[in-house]
Amino acid sequence: MGRMDNFSPVNYGELVQEDRIHGSLYVNPQVHEDEMDRIFHKGWVFVGHDSEIPNPGDYVTRMVGKQSVIMIRGKDNQVRVLLNRCKHRGNQLCNQKEGNKKALVCPYHGWAFSIEGELKDVPYSGGFDRDLSEYNLEQPRTDSYRGFVWACLAQEGISLKEHLGRATELFDRACDLSPSGELNLSAGWDRHLYLSNWKMLPENDTDGYHVNFTHQSFVQAIDSQYGDFVQEEETIEGVVIDWGMGHTEIDFSRGYKEPLKWLGVSPEKVPEYVEAMVALHGEEKAMEILRIGPPHACIFPNLFLGEMNIVIFQPESIGTSVQWHTPMFLKGAEQLNYRLLRQSEGAMGPTSFLVADDATIAQLTQRTLEEGEPWCDMSRGMNREVEERNGNLVSHMTDETNNRGFWKHYKEVMAN
Ligand code: FES
Repeated sequence: MGRMDNFSPVNYGELVQEDRIHGSLYVNPQVHEDEMDRIFHKGWVFVGHDSEIPNPGDYVTRMVGKQSVIMIRGKDNQVRVLLNRCKHRGNQLCNQKEGNKKALVCPYHGWAFSIEGELKDVPYSGGFDRDLSEYNLEQPRTDSYRGFVWACLAQEGISLKEHLGRATELFDRACDLSPSGELNLSAGWDRHLYLSNWKMLPENDTDGYHVNFTHQSFVQAIDSQYGDFVQEEETIEGVVIDWGMGHTEIDFSRGYKEPLKWLGVSPEKVPEYVEAMVALHGEEKAMEILRIGPPHACIFPNLFLGEMNIVIFQPESIGTSVQWHTPMFLKGAEQLNYRLLRQSEGAMGPTSFLVADDATIAQLTQRTLEEGEPWCDMSRGMNREVEERNGNLVSHMTDETNNRGFWKHYKEVMAN
C-alpha cells in the first residue's frame, strides 16, 4: 500500500487487523485529527491526581487532547476540571503549569472567575448588561477513581466506571501499597519530548519483548525485577494481560516469590513501612500485598501506572508526543518515599536508563514508518494466549497479547 492521501477518510477497519497494524496509523496527520476527536475529545482522558492540589486554590494545567484544562480545588474542597478558556472572547485564562489562585482573572480584559469557575466580575460593567451566570467557565464531565481524576469533553457517553472496567483492580493494587490507602503525587513532573507518535508509548511500556534488547545495559547493571528477562523463555513466569477496553499490563507478580521484590529490598530494610502495612492489614494479607507489588499497566488512552511511577502520554502531533512522569509516593510511608524518588530518577529521569533507550527506539521506528508505512506484525503469542475467568487474555511475557488488546479497543473507538 502506498502513502495515503492525508485528507481522505481513514479506513480503520482495514488498517487495524487482528495480527497486524498498518504503519500509516503512526504517520498520517488525518489519523491524529481523528484521534483527537474520537479518543481524546469524546472519550475519558486522565488529567491528574487530587493529591497534586491539596489546598483550596491549588491548580495544575493539563491537556485533554487539544483542549487546555485547569484542574483546581475549590473553597468547598471539591476538585473541578475547568476549560482553560475565557468565556468573553476565548483567551487562555491560566498560563502557568501549576500554582495557587484566589481567582482566575483573564489577562486580556480582566474578567474574574472564582476558583469554582463562576464569573464574578466584569471590569467597566456599564457596557455589559448580561447575566453573569451565563458566562461561567465550561466544565467537562469529570469523575475520579481513588484520587485519579479524569475528564471527558463530551457531555454524553459512557461513564468513567464503564471506561475503566475491570482495570479498577489495577488502581486498587497501586493504592493498597500505601499504609493510608492513598497516593501522594507531590514530587513534581519531568517531561520528555518523544519524536514519535503517542501510541508507541503505551505499546512500548507494556511490551515485555523488548526489555532484554533495548534495555540490555540496564538489565545487566541493575538487580531488579527486569532480571527475569535474562532467563530462558520457558522459565519466565511473568505474563502480559489484555484487561479489555484497551487497558494492558505486564504482570511481574506471577514470578515474585518474596515480598518487596519489586522494590529491590528485603522487608528488614524498610521496617517502618512493613510494620505500618501489617498493622493495617494483618500479617498474611500485608505480605501478599507486598509480594504482588504495584501494577505495570497502561490505562487507555494516556495513563501508565508504571510500578512506582505515574506517567502521562500527551500527543502533540502525529509525529511528536510528550511523556510526563512523577514518582508514586505512598502517603504514610515517608521512609520509603526518598528511595522511590531516587529510583524514579534512575529509571525515568533525564539521565535515566530506560527513557532514553525507549525514546531512541521510538524515534527510529517513527522515521522508518514515515519512509515507507509497512505493515507492523503483532501476531506473537496468538498461538498460546488463554482467557482467564475474569475475561482477561493472558500470555507469555514476551507475547503481544496486550498490544493486540490496545489496538482492538482503538479500532472499536476509531471505526465507530
Ligand atoms: Fe477574557 Fe476578554 S477574553 S476578558
